[in-house]
Amino acid sequence: MKEKLDNIKAAALREIELASTTAELNNVRVKYLGKSGEISLLMRDMATVAKEDRPAMGKLVNELRNAVEGTLIAKTEQIAELEKQARLKAEAIDITLPSSAQRLGSLHPLTAIRRELIDIFTGMGFTVADGPEIESDLFNFQLLNIPKDHPSRDMQDTFYVNDNIVLRTQTSAVQARIMTNAQPPIRVVSPGKVYRSDDDASHSPIFNQFEGLAVDEHITMGDLQGCLTTFAKKIFSEDTKVRLRPSYFPFTEPSVEVDVTCSMCHGKGCRVCKGTGWVEILGAGIVNPAVLDMCGIDSKKYSGFAFGFGIDRIAMIKYGIPNIKLLYENDVRFLAQFN
Ligand code: PHE
Repeated sequence: MKEKLDNIKAAALREIELASTTAELNNVRVKYLGKSGEISLLMRDMATVAKEDRPAMGKLVNELRNAVEGTLIAKTEQIAELEKQARLKAEAIDITLPSSAQRLGSLHPLTAIRRELIDIFTGMGFTVADGPEIESDLFNFQLLNIPKDHPSRDMQDTFYVNDNIVLRTQTSAVQARIMTNAQPPIRVVSPGKVYRSDDDASHSPIFNQFEGLAVDEHITMGDLQGCLTTFAKKIFSEDTKVRLRPSYFPFTEPSVEVDVTCSMCHGKGCRVCKGTGWVEILGAGIVNPAVLDMCGIDSKKYSGFAFGFGIDRIAMIKYGIPNIKLLYENDVRFLAQFN
């Protein structure tokens, strides 16, 4: 019997030694310590042992079980550790590898310029106002001194929703809205989308305008010129010059067309300014007293200036963009250049 125990012990320890996975180790456990494992069976065999030998035998079997169990536990921990190491190695991430490049998005050039413009004008004391894009004929035309049959309506190819509702053709409509609602002093800019039935390389049926309005006592053309010169120097460059030419708008009197020295060639003459050194950027003037009166502001006490320009046109001049459509197609290859 003693010899049998020694053999079992030797075999069990060797099999434990040879096992290299948790599964193999489990098989060994079942083979020796399971319900009908070899060591468990020894206990049952005890019945055949002579009564006086039983305590000694029992002790030996217990020692055997303890030895096998202890070795199993040690080996189990060893294998678990090895398996953990292998897993960690397999899951390791090489943090020294270069990462794949992340492409950052950027602001649309029109958004970037609109924000820059708002920054410039709020810096001069203007607030920002908004208005509806579907506008009544009253605000878009009539209160701006353009009655129903006025020929100057032809200046703006209008999309009519019905006889009295239009897609606003100019952000000047916001001017009329503000003046009917507030009394001077007024200093407001209003950026926004406008619509005209017009379509070529420099005209899009939808485009973005930026309107400015200042009404107070003693506002003059000099204030307008100073304001626009500051704006032009900030949006283009410090050496930009501004020139005013007489023009006509029904809602301003006198009216001017404003040119700036070309920001591409700084006045030398190039493709953008068609060789003249100057580019026309906006319309402006002294608010027509008739408009002030129609909107409920006393034209004997107050005067004002107004100006309006296309944000698109500023972007095209500033970045040398040849076709306005590029600003609305949203081709990523184009937009990515403004990163
Ligand atoms: N609203 C005019 C246009 O769209 C521009 C303008 C605004 C002119 C304000 C004078 C004063 O052409």
